[in-house]
Amino acid sequence: MHKNRGPVYYGDYLQLPKLLDSQLPLSRKFANESNGECHDEMLFIVVHQVYELWFKQILHDLDAILATFNKTYVPESELSSVVQKLERIKKIQTLLIGQFDVLETMTPMDFLEFRDLLIPASGFQSVQFREIEIKLGLNTNDRQHVDREFFLGRLSETDRAKLTDLETSPSLLKLVEGWLERIPFTKMDNFNFWDEYQKSIQTILKDDEEIILRNSASLSEVQKNIQLENLSVTRTTFKSLFDKIAHDELVVNKQRRLSQSAILNALFIMLYRDESMLALPFQVLTSMMDIDENFTTWRYRHALLAQRMLGTKIGTGGSSGHQYLKRAADNNRVFVDLFNLSTFLIPRSRLPVLPPEVKKQLNFNV
Ligand code: HEM
Repeated sequence: MHKNRGPVYYGDYLQLPKLLDSQLPLSRKFANESNGECHDEMLFIVVHQVYELWFKQILHDLDAILATFNKTYVPESELSSVVQKLERIKKIQTLLIGQFDVLETMTPMDFLEFRDLLIPASGFQSVQFREIEIKLGLNTNDRQHVDREFFLGRLSETDRAKLTDLETSPSLLKLVEGWLERIPFTKMDNFNFWDEYQKSIQTILKDDEEIILRNSASLSEVQKNIQLENLSVTRTTFKSLFDKIAHDELVVNKQRRLSQSAILNALFIMLYRDESMLALPFQVLTSMMDIDENFTTWRYRHALLAQRMLGTKIGTGGSSGHQYLKRAADNNRVFVDLFNLSTFLIPRSRLPVLPPEVKKQLNFNV
């Protein structure tokens, strides 16, 4: 434990003079006889500053999580600390989404009073927001070309270089991919889990086909064929999980991001999360999905805020405003592969029974 060597004063410790002297409305600076300071610009500044402080805390926690996953072996004790930090990020995100309620007490007319003074500054220049995106796993090349041009062009050279450099470090997505790939259990002596799993899937699909054919008396030929076609699509989707070439093609087309073995092991965790050893890994994956979902919710909420304030006007950063932000909400996802794992889940009753020695290991009885 650290020992204090002298008295501490609240305002000094929190650097309050600096912090509370950092709200400088431009409408005050440029006030004249006909236009005074705009009352709501203070709210606009405070809300943005609070966001940036929370971004700082998210980055602080994210760095610790990245350091843990950067190890070749992640012990159980460190995994629970990762879950705790991921949960904290989720709580912060709840605040971030809620804060829009406060900002929306400013009316569009009040915003118009000082909006033009901000040009060309905009959230495009929030370096911390980009850092969070990059550290999670969203790189410049993952974005649509037109969006890339917009926000890169708005950054200072120093900030652009900083972010470009950051993109060369492994992101959470990449590190978690490596961690998932290293998880054992699915291939052990005399037991190849995925062979067993594929057999279960084939039985399920065969049963589905029989149901369609059995009920075909009540279906028209067209309806029956549509159902059989849908089933064939499901078959192909399942096949893409086990066929490396098909999987890699989806990665090239940006439809999947994680490697095949990482996806398979994540699926194993989802299927057998009740086994003691998989409980924490399951929580890690679930929290990462929650964080991805919360960011998407934030993006939609922010896009609606922009529409409410600007209608169809362009943003101060020069983008199409609401349209751009809505597109970013749709596209800028990180852990979408984890969401799509649900496609491959099968009922518990159809799961392959794990051999006793695998079950023992999964329950810490080595
Ligand atoms: C009146 C309130 C706000 C309006 C009208 C607004 C509008 C916009 C618009 C139109 C953009 C697109 C870039 C541009 O062309 O300017 C943008 C981007 C952005 N804004 Fe806001 N914003 C507001 C408040 C906030 C707040 C409180 C934050 C919190 C930090 C924020 C963070 C961002 C970020 C991070 C981006 C970049 C998003 C991306 O590229 O995916 N904005 N904003």
